[in-house]
Amino acid sequence: MSAKDIDFNNLGFSYIKTDLRYISYWKDGKWDDGQLTEDNVLHISEGSPSLHYGQQSFEGLKAYRCKDGSINLFRPDKNAERMQASCDRLLMPEVPTDVFVEACKQVVKANEAYLPPYGTGGSLYLRPFIIGTGDNIGVNAAREYIFSIFCMPVGPYFKGGMTPHNFVVSSYDRAAPNGTGAAKVGGNYAASLLAGKEARERKFSDAIYLDPATHTLIEEVGAANFFGITEDDEFVTPLSPSILPSITKYSLLYLAEHRLGLKATEGLVPIDGLEQFKEAGACGTAAVITPIGGIQNGDDFHVFYSETEVGPITTKLYDELVGIQYGDVMAPDGWIFKV
Ligand SMILES: Cc1ncc(COP(=O)(O)O)c(C=O)c1O
Repeated sequence: MSAKDIDFNNLGFSYIKTDLRYISYWKDGKWDDGQLTEDNVLHISEGSPSLHYGQQSFEGLKAYRCKDGSINLFRPDKNAERMQASCDRLLMPEVPTDVFVEACKQVVKANEAYLPPYGTGGSLYLRPFIIGTGDNIGVNAAREYIFSIFCMPVGPYFKGGMTPHNFVVSSYDRAAPNGTGAAKVGGNYAASLLAGKEARERKFSDAIYLDPATHTLIEEVGAANFFGITEDDEFVTPLSPSILPSITKYSLLYLAEHRLGLKATEGLVPIDGLEQFKEAGACGTAAVITPIGGIQNGDDFHVFYSETEVGPITTKLYDELVGIQYGDVMAPDGWIFKV
């Protein structure tokens, strides 16, 4: 679709082919210089370990058009670092932070026509990924890799955006305690597809995953982290080795404490203790802040603030975070990279 045919005011979260993407090849122990290409189709060996054994990792981050026309990237260095950790876990070569950030900037510049205008609420979603490629058949790490970044304009991940959504506790596990839950790797998402489908069939927005060892603690809300605001105005978000270390979550922990003056902690969040929270939400790059109306757990349906209204602290956190991303609110040092 050409950029001029896009209705930037009514974007969802779907694939749109944009003009150019970055691609770099790793061979003989090193990355090549990388380049932009129009081709959105990869040609790889049928033996590629990414296809059979899930040796791959991906990231998600956004670029925002500001009021003054400039373009912000939100904490891309943190995505680079997280991808390096995912690569370490799956025996893939790291992409250096400066290469990653520079490639993000190149992709945004090359597809600037697709960047939703300021005020539409849209953004340009960047999807970096690394896959293990090359002829192989045993369960081995690949000897060749592709690192690529493509992008597309997006609106809210959960339909309706900043309105309360209901979620259901899944009986499926997403990732094992010493597994790959903290890495952003495809296997975790493959494992979540059935749970997500079943949740949506029951008219919930997505599944909530509990800790796989005891099934008593909240871990993830679909592809987002959980947070709750206690009756004592404390921002609490789950602490666990098997959840994805969300960049949005760490940003909110900082903003809750330093901008809203709340106590902010990572701790255990028992599924049987939801009444301690007066507000709750899901947070992530795609989800931004999605207020949680209620959670279905077995026969019990617990409503937090309201199923239709957004709580005041969730609203303040949203305004602060989104204001920083679009350049309307002063960002903490190092959070914004200008393109
Ligand atoms: C499973 C999962 N949890 C949490 C998040 C939120 O992470 P971030 O805020 O870095 O986007 C994501 C999205 O990347 C995710 O896929």
